[in-house]
Formats: sequence, structure tokens, C-alpha cells
Amino acid sequence: MSSWPDTRLVELFGIEIPIVLAPMASSSGPPLVSAVSHAGGLGSLPCAALSIDQARDAFTKIRSQTSLPVSMNFFCHEQPAVDAQQASAWREQLRSYFDEFGVDMDAPPPASPIRSFGADYCALVEELKPAVVSFHFGLPDVSLMARLHATGAKVIASATTVAEARWLEARGCDAIVAQGFEAGGHRGSFLAGTATAQQVGTFALVPQVVDAVNVPVIAAGGVADARGIAAAFALGASGVQIGTAYLSCPESSLPANYREALRHAGDDSTVLTNVFTGRPARGIVTRVVAEIGPLAAQTQPFPLASTTLAPLRAKAESLGSNDFSPFWAGQAAALACVMPAFELTRRLASEALERIGV
Ligand SMILES: Cc1cc2nc3c(=O)[nH]c(=O)nc-3n(C[C@H](O)[C@H](O)[C@H](O)COP(=O)(O)O)c2cc1C
Repeated sequence: MSSWPDTRLVELFGIEIPIVLAPMASSSGPPLVSAVSHAGGLGSLPCAALSIDQARDAFTKIRSQTSLPVSMNFFCHEQPAVDAQQASAWREQLRSYFDEFGVDMDAPPPASPIRSFGADYCALVEELKPAVVSFHFGLPDVSLMARLHATGAKVIASATTVAEARWLEARGCDAIVAQGFEAGGHRGSFLAGTATAQQVGTFALVPQVVDAVNVPVIAAGGVADARGIAAAFALGASGVQIGTAYLSCPESSLPANYREALRHAGDDSTVLTNVFTGRPARGIVTRVVAEIGPLAAQTQPFPLASTTLAPLRAKAESLGSNDFSPFWAGQAAALACVMPAFELTRRLASEALERIGV
């Protein structure tokens, strides 16, 4: 494959193709991650919903498929304590659904599998030594950052504003993921708060972040084909992070109802909503989003809102209903080409290079 107009990212990560598979909690497991790394991109293993043992097992599976660079991804949110009043207020808002689906409102909700990065995950990184460690919702403290860098890993994180990008660079990030408003899944915002009306789109965000920092910038949000990749390079990015376009690959861990929803998604099928987890995230509009969202004035703090919703979701799905299912997806979902991830990665790269004309 001929060379890219900006090679900073491929050199930094030791990869051939400047395409990062977005880490996608609960959706991208070892088969998808290893296929993208094997193709020459950077596969990212989302660890936020995995216990230490599950993360180790998943990474070991990937290593049995490829020895090429892989990233491990973690969340850095504040882990909230359960506030009984908030929980009961959120349950009250959902009362009519509990009644409709015959679910016991007073049964204790399950614990959230989502965890924030700490010393235990850091020890796992020291043990497994991935080439890259990536973060959403900020960064761990200085001492953990030093331990990560001491393993030889490059550390990257999402920024949704120029101020966040500068903050990440000042704390030692080796590259920055500029995540535009179009992106599927949670906004990685950590300084910007959750004011959704001010969220910046990829086309405006990437060049402003490129101007503000010296490290390579990875464009994320709405990139789904070679045109998007070429545009990202034209805006000054050194690579792209693609999530939604990989969701329909046969290697993803999506259930059939999610795949079906993606098949029917158009340009305006998604919305930023906080009803599933308590934080704004982009997904396909389903009943609960339409009826009490997209942005409920009060939910529970991330990720607790999802635990209250969990029994409703389980009951509805058992009856074949998607009313409470979070189908995370970005605005470019309809541009996705359904094919195996290895082929998709190679095709995106060769078509982008053709377009860029190098
Ligand atoms: C299903 C899904 C799950 C996601 N989960 C994570 C995650 O666990 N960690 C993370 O850093 N980003 C996560 N994201 C956000 C992606 O990193 C990325 O910003 C986004 O996918 C890029 O936009 P695109 O979906 O339009 O390609 C997720 C996105 C999706 C679509």
C-alpha cells in the first residue's frame, strides 16, 4: 500500500493503515479487533464493561490471532454512589413502562458492569503490554499515566472541544481523538459538561484541534467511507477512528435486532440521548428515547441510569420489543458497507489513497 500524506500516526503506533477501529463497549470483541489489526489498522478492545479476567481473556484471544499492535480502551468517569432519591425519581419516570411490561419496580436493579480505570486495570496493562491505551471521559491521574507510559504504550484519548484537546496534550497524550457531534456512542466530553446544544461537529472540530496541539489528531465521528477518510486528512488529521461503519461487520458482537435497526438507519435516524445511561450518547431513536427523551431533565448519573432500565430492557427484548434497547450508532450509519472487517479495512484504505491521490 502506498504512503499516506501524513504518516505521524502510522509511525507512532507501528501500523500500516491509519484507521483505528473505535472501541465499542459490548459491540466489538476479539474477532473484530483482531481482524482490523490483522488488516494493518489498529484494533481497539473496549474494556469498560469487562472485568479484569474478562479483559485478560479477550486480549489473550486477540493475541492468538495477531501479534500486530492493538489498543485497550477504558473509561475515566467519576464512579457515582447510588443515591436512593435519584434512583426512585428515575424509576418513577419509568413507572408506566414497568406497569405495561409487568416488571417489578421494587426489585433491586443489577449492578452496572461499567467501571472506571484504576490501579487494577493499570496492573493488567502492565501485564499485557498493549501497544496503545485509549481513554474516554478524560485521563487517569499522573501516577497511573506514568505507569502506562513506562510499559511503552502510547496513550490516546477523546476530546470533544479544543480545550479538552489541549488538556489531554498537556497531560501527556501521544495522540488525540477529535470526536465530533456525529459520532455514535457516548460523547467523550469531560471538561465541556454535557450541554448538548454546543457540541461541535467533526468538520469544524478537527482543524481547530489540529491547530491547537502538536500531537497527531485522529478524526472520529461520521467517517464511514473513503470520502470521509480523505476529508479527515484534508482537515489535517493524521488518521481516523471509525465505529459505526464496523458495527455491521459479521465479526461484531451485535444481536440480530441491533443489526436490523442499523440496516434501516438513515441520515436522521439517530439522536443524542441520556435516557439509557445518564450521559449523552448517540443512538437510533427507539420508543423510550422518543417518549421521555431524547434528553430527560433528570435521570441517574452515568452509568447508573442503565441499571434501572435493565430489567425493562430484558423483559421487552424477551417479548421481541426494542423499546428500551440502546442501538448506539452515528449519523453516517447508512454509509456503511456490510463486509468482513479485514476486507473493509483494506478497501477503505485503498479507496482513500486513490482519492487522496498519493
Ligand atoms: C456502539 C458504540 C460503542 C462505543 N463505545 C465506546 C467505548 O467503549 N469507548 C470509547 O472510547 N468510545 C466508544 N464509542 C465512541 C467511538 O470511540 C467513536 O467516537 C465513534 O464511534 C466515532 O463515530 P462513528 O460511530 O460515526 O464512526 C462507541 C461508539 C459506538 C458506535
